Amino acid sequence: MFLSQTSEQHIVNSLANSDRCPMADSIFSPEKYLTTRLPIEEAHPLPPSVYTSREWYEREMETIFHKRWLLVTRVEEIPHRGDYVRVDIAGEPLIVLRDREGVIRTVSASCRHRASELATGSGNCQVLVCPYHSWSYSLKGELIGAPGMEEALNFKKSDHNLPNFRTETWAGFVFVNFDDNAASLLDSLANLPERFKDYKMEDMRVTKKWENRFNANWKIWVENSREGYHVPTVHRESLDTYYPGAKSTVFQPEGVPGVYAINSSDNENGLYVPRNKTLPFIEGLSEQDRERTHFMVFYPHLLMNLPPDRITFHQYFPEGPEWTRIVTWCCFPEKTIALENFEQEVEDKYYPPMALFIKEDKDICEVVQRGIVGRSARPGRYSPTQEQTVYEFSNYVLDHVIGTDKSEDT
Ligand code: FES
Ligand SMILES: [Fe+2]
Repeated sequence: MFLSQTSEQHIVNSLANSDRCPMADSIFSPEKYLTTRLPIEEAHPLPPSVYTSREWYEREMETIFHKRWLLVTRVEEIPHRGDYVRVDIAGEPLIVLRDREGVIRTVSASCRHRASELATGSGNCQVLVCPYHSWSYSLKGELIGAPGMEEALNFKKSDHNLPNFRTETWAGFVFVNFDDNAASLLDSLANLPERFKDYKMEDMRVTKKWENRFNANWKIWVENSREGYHVPTVHRESLDTYYPGAKSTVFQPEGVPGVYAINSSDNENGLYVPRNKTLPFIEGLSEQDRERTHFMVFYPHLLMNLPPDRITFHQYFPEGPEWTRIVTWCCFPEKTIALENFEQEVEDKYYPPMALFIKEDKDICEVVQRGIVGRSARPGRYSPTQEQTVYEFSNYVLDHVIGTDKSEDT
């Protein structure tokens, strides 16, 4: 390992200081992560414990998932008044619905009587009725019916409404935020809406979803999905089957650190645009956008791929430190979906390679998790040219879980 004199001395100093700190042995001690804080040319990936520790996972839920905007669904999944979907995210059972006035809301799915789950799956209703003792709630979450409670002293229905959580939309995506003090979704997105406005994502519709649950930490999925380093190895089979001749993808990170990052690949080395494509590109895209597929992360929770003809995105749900559920969505422009050959084309040329990519990625995430649990597992180094987004993401996690103070001398 060759660290610069300055970086190495910083680490030596801070480790010496850490002897005096009662937190030094804690998994949250900043000293443990100094080598991930170095410039990427010198930095080490996160240590294995942050992928397996329950304590670390709980802190991630508290400092990231309960503070940031989280993707819960698409607007077109609840088009009519009374439509709802049940979502579990960051340990919270939620119902995302469209109320009688047409407003999209997110309410708790835990009944305020004895906390039964209020609904499952998706559907349409005018009132939410608990399956246990039939307490009922308006679509705004107000308790409107509580049979058998007449004799309860000082019982006021209005004391038992369902919590509503902040819910905002952008480009057809519905996000929830558990933090009342968080900035608005649009402010949090910085200039992403402007960067991708030509894709007119609000005019797209969901055409396909794949759902997978796998035995790996959520961060392994995020890291894998945002770098192209693994593509020639992990996606060998899909490349050989669907994209013969593709060599490697060219990634050029851009973005706002801590807000979003975009890698772009050349379609000619294509993973996303079928070689014999017949479906049209999105109208109005720039020449650069027509030639590239963009891979974007809006931290922490929107992982989206933008080839010139559609979007795909991954919704991920951490289920403990070592399990993650992934829903991968594919959306096409409404005009494309209306084409006579659409169904045949997507079934023949678009969905099969996507399904294979997902399987290959899911499988490699489990392979990584199996390696990371070993007592001898140690982080190596980042490739400065291939893993910029992984490095940024690792530091994003550290910024939230242990704080942004990177001073080694305190
Ligand atoms: S738990 Fe919902 S009505 Fe009793
Ligand atoms: Fe992949």
